[in-house]
This record gives sequence, C-alpha cells and structure tokens, in this order.
Amino acid sequence: MELARDITLILHFIGLALIIGPFFAQMRAHSGYFFGWVLTGAVIQLVTGLLLTGLVEMRLADNPDMAVDHIKIAVKTTLAVIIFVVALVAYRKQKKLSSGGRERKLLPLLHTAGALAIANTVIAVVWPGVVR
Ligand code: HEM
Repeated sequence: MELARDITLILHFIGLALIIGPFFAQMRAHSGYFFGWVLTGAVIQLVTGLLLTGLVEMRLADNPDMAVDHIKIAVKTTLAVIIFVVALVAYRKQKKLSSGGRERKLLPLLHTAGALAIANTVIAVVWPGVVR
C-alpha cells in the first residue's frame, strides 16, 4: 500500500512538472508551445489525484476520528479540470493554425494552465489534507 502511494505520488509530481515546466520555459515564447505536454500533465494529475485520494481514504478507513478533507479535493479537482479543458482547447487550436506567427494568441492559455497548476501546488501544501 505504501509503495502504491509512493509510485502514484511520484507520477503526480511528474504530471505537475509537465504543466509547470512548459509554462516557465515558454512564458515569453511566440510559438511552438508544448500544449501536448500540458494536456498529458493534466490527465496525469486527474488520474493520479483520484488514486491518491482513494489510497488516503483506505489508510484512514480504520480511524473514525480522521477524514479526508473533501472540500480540498473538490477545489483541486475543479482547478485540474479547468487546466485540462484549457490545455485541450489550446492543443486543438494550435493544430489548426498553419503558421507559427499566429500562435502568440494562445499564450494566455499557457499562462492560465501554469498559474492554476501553481495555485493547486500551493493548495496541496498549505491546506491540510486530513481533518479531525
Ligand atoms: C494541477 C493539478 C495538481 C497539482 C499541481 C497537485 C499538486 C500536488 C502536490 C505538490 C502534492 C504533494 C503535497 C504534499 O505532499 O505535501 C499533492 C498531493 C496530493 N494530491 Fe494533488 N495536485 C493536483 C491535482 C490533484 C487532484 C485533481 C487530486 C484529487 C482528485 C489531488 C489529490 C492529491 C492528494 C490526495 C494528495 C496527497 C497524497 C498523500 O500525501 O498521500 N491532486 N498534489
């Protein structure tokens, strides 16, 4: 069980990197945004986040005094779904654009995905995940 949690959490960090990495690397770029990476990262975050939640629930199942904070999970899931939609829209629009020059208008979508992923990181660390 502990191993499953460790592996899933490592994948959760890789998913995080796939969203925040392109954001920092390309925040001033004019074209060639790695929206495919961001989209993959968003999917990884949704899947591994759900698995981590299930694993925490299982760990706390024997302890009636403690519970997972479902509001925190709901907030994180909402932000992750928005990141997924933004990345999907950007990815599909980028595929349709023929010349690199017009890609610049997609930059706000990269900024949105990156900012929301950073917000989710702050929430993950600052907001306690377990309530008594
Ligand atoms: C862009 C999206 C996300 C980012 C950037 C993110 C970030 C993080 C980070 C940095 C941690 C480690 C926190 C720590 O160990 O103190 C974490 C843990 C966790 N995340 Fe996420 N997360 C995201 C999406 C989600 C989603 C959608 C869910 C739930 C459906 C979720 C559920 C969890 C859980 C349960 C843990 C705790 C794992 C444990 O300690 O056993 N995350 N997340």
